[in-house]
Amino acid sequence: MTNTEEGVFFLTGKDFTNAGAASSSLKGILERRGVPPDIIRRMAIAAFEAELNVIIYAVAGMMKYRVTDTEIFVTVQDMGQGIPDIELAMTEGYSTATDHIREMGFGSGMGLPNIKKSTDNLAINSVMGEGTTLEFFIRIRSGGTEQA
Ligand SMILES: Nc1ncnc2c1ncn2[C@@H]1O[C@H](COP(=O)(O)OP(=O)(O)OP(=O)(O)O)[C@@H](O)[C@H]1O
Ligand SMILES: [Mg+2]
Repeated sequence: MTNTEEGVFFLTGKDFTNAGAASSSLKGILERRGVPPDIIRRMAIAAFEAELNVIIYAVAGMMKYRVTDTEIFVTVQDMGQGIPDIELAMTEGYSTATDHIREMGFGSGMGLPNIKKSTDNLAINSVMGEGTTLEFFIRIRSGGTEQA
């Protein structure tokens, strides 16, 4: 059975009022589809961290998702400053967040490492002065049959 569902959420830089809305909507979609809770939890973490990075560091962006019976693919693309050193940005604890951002509870430098840990694959592409694109996916293992 192929039952594919896809869509897009638009993200606005500095819009902290709606921070988390896109990842929360995606979580709701996965719940309605009956995706296993551990998969939903991992995707909710990854999507939230990617969404917040757009809101904190970019001007605007979008989160696109495609859910099939076996996988959840997410692309988070932004227009923004870009990431000068992706390897450094992936380092646990590395953050360029300002004091203002830290006061809001962000800036632990754990977002990107947590996206990597929570997903089955993460690809990051960034062009300085243009923006950043994250692509990640999680395989949905159907109950009972363990897949590699
Ligand atoms: N979309 C983005 N555009 C530009 N820079 C980014 C983007 N996402 C991450 N970065 C850079 O990479 C660094 C590390 O990101 P990461 O999400 O791991 O940590 P953080 O956002 O600083 O803190 P936390 O996610 O724990 O709140 C950021 O501080 C920022 O410098
Ligand atoms: Mg972050």
